[in-house]
Amino acid sequence: MATGSLVCLDDFEKYAFGKLDRNALDYYRSGANDEQSLRDNRAAFGRYRFRPRFLQKDVSKRDLSTRIQGQPVDFPVGIAPTALQRMAHPDGEVATGRAAAAMKTCMVLSTMATSSIEEVAQASPEGLRWFQICIYRDREVTKELVRRAERSGYKALVLTVDTPMFGRRLADTRNKFTLPPHLRMANFKQADYKSDGVKGRKGSGQSKFAASLLNPSLKWTDVRWLKQFTKLPIIVKGILTGEDAVEAVRTGVDGIVVSNHGARQLDGVPATIDVLPEVVRAVNGQCEVYLDGGVRTGTDVLKALALGAKAVFIGRPALYGLAYDGEAGVKTILQILRDELSLAMALAGCASLSDINSSLVVHQSYYL
Ligand code: FNR
Repeated sequence: MATGSLVCLDDFEKYAFGKLDRNALDYYRSGANDEQSLRDNRAAFGRYRFRPRFLQKDVSKRDLSTRIQGQPVDFPVGIAPTALQRMAHPDGEVATGRAAAAMKTCMVLSTMATSSIEEVAQASPEGLRWFQICIYRDREVTKELVRRAERSGYKALVLTVDTPMFGRRLADTRNKFTLPPHLRMANFKQADYKSDGVKGRKGSGQSKFAASLLNPSLKWTDVRWLKQFTKLPIIVKGILTGEDAVEAVRTGVDGIVVSNHGARQLDGVPATIDVLPEVVRAVNGQCEVYLDGGVRTGTDVLKALALGAKAVFIGRPALYGLAYDGEAGVKTILQILRDELSLAMALAGCASLSDINSSLVVHQSYYL
């Protein structure tokens, strides 16, 4: 549980800000451009209010367990895919995977990880792992990544759709962000990518290589292609409108993550918690809907669940837990959120997740 004077996720963020070097911290912390959406992801949670009900349920014990894509988890908070985790701790994604497995929840591994698909699977074979992917310019690269994830027991593909190109993060531009020389993007062959540039191109290594993989010409028909290529459930990540949610359902996806990529792509998009009701309405129960972006407390989780999310995911807090103490730090972050959610449920009159519904939360304007 909470360690010394660090008792909430914001404490771990402050700690990490003091510990990480500028190159890594700015990469983790930044949002795109003016960071309007980054601020709003957090601020928006504060604009919703609870309407707790008392004496309806025995809340002496709370059941936080649920299933996502048919797989059991002990509580509805997973770890979102974030790139380059070994900048935060030498064990990087391996530690994150172990922490999620120990806490019996889901970890989503990024393609842009500094630990490979296989390493993370071998380190936590019992854990529920999903693999985040894009449909890359090179279909052979994409296919090989999917097959490796399948062989290593990942249970779903999280297809990121909000990244036709990388958003502009000013601090990284100022810092001329680079991956430290002892690290590499472990899911790609050394021959594909060298620290001094992309195969056959001149450039600044890792960032250029990552950008060269992206394919800005993708359409929903390409999602259909991926669906035919794999039996794994496909969860599209980065949906921000009811219209795109309808497209996703029509394409036959198994889940949607309402996400603005931690506000790192298009600055000026709304906070994810504000978008969630629109997407949930559009989906109308036809697939599971999850949320990430700015989740930092148990009450944030409770608000997202009440507004229709089946589960939520955390990005930066796991990185800050890693920076604090590797696997143990990530476990502590998850344990704090779990304990805070459990308490918030009791105080709101909910004994299990099925007691949480849309009457529990209103926008603050309801009281004005
Ligand atoms: C990300 N995110 C991300 N998403 C993705 O689909 N693939 C990736 O490789 C990454 N990498 C990445 C790196 C870093 C440093 C951050 C902060 C984020 C987005 C991530 O999955 C998630 O959407 C957000 O991080 C959620 O917001 P919070 O919890 O960080 O506020």
